[in-house]
Amino acid sequence: MAEVTVFQAINMDRNQRQLIDTAAMDWLTSPAAGVMRKPLEREAAESGQVTSIVRYAAGTFFPAHNHPAGEEILVLSGTFEDEHGCYPAGSYFRNPPGSSHSPGSSEGCELLVKLNMFQRDDLQPVNIDTTTQPWLPGLVAGLSVMPLHQFNGEQTALVRWQPGTHFSRHSHTGGEEIYVIDGVFEDEHGRYGAGSWLRSPDNSQHQPFSEQGCTIWVKTGHLAHLPG
Ligand SMILES: [Fe+2]
Ligand SMILES: [Fe+2]
Repeated sequence: MAEVTVFQAINMDRNQRQLIDTAAMDWLTSPAAGVMRKPLEREAAESGQVTSIVRYAAGTFFPAHNHPAGEEILVLSGTFEDEHGCYPAGSYFRNPPGSSHSPGSSEGCELLVKLNMFQRDDLQPVNIDTTTQPWLPGLVAGLSVMPLHQFNGEQTALVRWQPGTHFSRHSHTGGEEIYVIDGVFEDEHGRYGAGSWLRSPDNSQHQPFSEQGCTIWVKTGHLAHLPG
């Protein structure tokens, strides 16, 4: 008897807060040899909107593919590459709708990947090496910000918290999504170590701080502008 797999969407209700400790998740196989992944939110089995942690084994290379509604990547470790260049850990790039490439990794890498969530008119390619880009002063002492991208209400940045930094209570118009790169990020709801992924809905509120210090990737406003 043939095996039937029924796909279920994962964490696609953006009105629900999501908190995932990706460091504690098991790697799942993918249709591509050498590629493992940890799905955080997923609309369909192998298409549509997806956020996941992806690991390429050393020596993994793919044929060309395109990105119907864009691809956004933060390289977490190792070096990702395609025919346009090499992207070491700390690289942030955006391949807009209509772009294509042949990706791979000679040495292996881990990535935070968001697929098919670009606003229709957001066609600007982005390629930033966050290890060399300058940090700007944040809104309170101890906070530094590195803007990565903004478009029509959606903003993406790295934010670095010195130990003992406290931020004001604020609300998230259009939602907020955070990936903790290092250290421990905190708010009144919990403590979030490296590898934590947090998605907070439109108009949610919190008062964040970091006693230990941390670096986080933050996207705000996007939940109000998702395609489809
Ligand atoms: Fe791609
Ligand atoms: Fe926030």
